[in-house]
Amino acid sequence: MRCFVTGGTGHIGSYLVRLLLEQGYQVAALIRPTSDPWRIKDVLNRLQIIPGDLAAMEEAAASVRSFAPEMVFHLGWYGVGSSHRNDPAQVTQNLAGTLKLLQLASESGCQRWICLGSQAEYGLCDGVLTEELPVRPVTLYGATKLSVGLLSQKLCETYNVGFTWLRLLATYGPMDDQQHMIPYVILTLLRGQSPALSPGEQRWDYLYVEDAARAIWQAATMPAAQGVFNLGSGEAATVKSIVERIRDMIDPSLMLDFGAVPYRPDQVMCLQADISRLQQATGWAPQVSLDEGLKRTVEWYRENCGRY
Ligand SMILES: NC(=O)c1ccc[n+]([C@@H]2O[C@H](COP(=O)([O-])OP(=O)(O)OC[C@H]3O[C@@H](n4cnc5c(N)ncnc54)[C@H](OP(=O)(O)O)[C@@H]3O)[C@@H](O)[C@H]2O)c1
Repeated sequence: MRCFVTGGTGHIGSYLVRLLLEQGYQVAALIRPTSDPWRIKDVLNRLQIIPGDLAAMEEAAASVRSFAPEMVFHLGWYGVGSSHRNDPAQVTQNLAGTLKLLQLASESGCQRWICLGSQAEYGLCDGVLTEELPVRPVTLYGATKLSVGLLSQKLCETYNVGFTWLRLLATYGPMDDQQHMIPYVILTLLRGQSPALSPGEQRWDYLYVEDAARAIWQAATMPAAQGVFNLGSGEAATVKSIVERIRDMIDPSLMLDFGAVPYRPDQVMCLQADISRLQQATGWAPQVSLDEGLKRTVEWYRENCGRY
């Protein structure tokens, strides 16, 4: 099976690339010439690297056609971090690039298109997210994800390509970007400092990154897993309890200053994925508990804090 991956240098993509190689698939990855592929440096020699950028997909057209992917895993996205939530380049880089990639892939005989959406497509929802909820994105990130999802679904119907869109909540795990909450808290506590924290009563759904990669792969292999699915752990824990667990793993005597940072004016107090649709379609279920995932994550940062 020939799999084409975008975002393979990213947090989730790096785990997916490794999983696909373990399954014996032939993997090609679109990698920007400016990218630092540190997360996948140990497997780079087993990949076909296609230099390219979503902002200029035409330049990679010949290489995509020549690889002729049977499956595309599209995880690459300009502007994943919160600082880019309303950056107009979200639209210009991701929308046209994604649709061009889909066109190229379908012309090359691709049968399956698996793409990462986001809970941001639902907007400011509080509670358990089902796929039936209305989509009312409030950021350009959410609006662009929704637009890419709707357009690629229609194009997949037109091109007769199987379509899977996974609306992910939040992942965590080793090698994550330090701007995200869990690595920020771990790294700050490892330095013996106190992280800047809100009161922390909001309840969040965090999925361990290996479970996320396995869900993406299993969805791709299941003919029934077509359409839109939520992806998360299906459970929510308070930010406070997550931070306290991390603190206890690092140094129980460290003080935590909950409330030093106020809630956002539009603070959502509970985000939890209903994952029953995905589970029924794929048989997938998360395997790594929050305690175990946090333990592995803390250990990784403890050993690799020099990188940050
Ligand atoms: N992490 C989460 O909790 C979460 C939640 C909801 C949805 N998602 C979605 O899941 C996907 C993967 O997320 P992640 O956390 O793994 O993101 P990440 O670590 O920030 O990785 C983003 C990837 O996209 C690539 N990329 C960025 N701009 C590009 C461009 N113009 N052309 C080609 N590649 C480009 C990056 O390459 P470089 O190495 O060159 O930077 C990197 O490989 C994204 O689509 C994201 O929106 C993630």
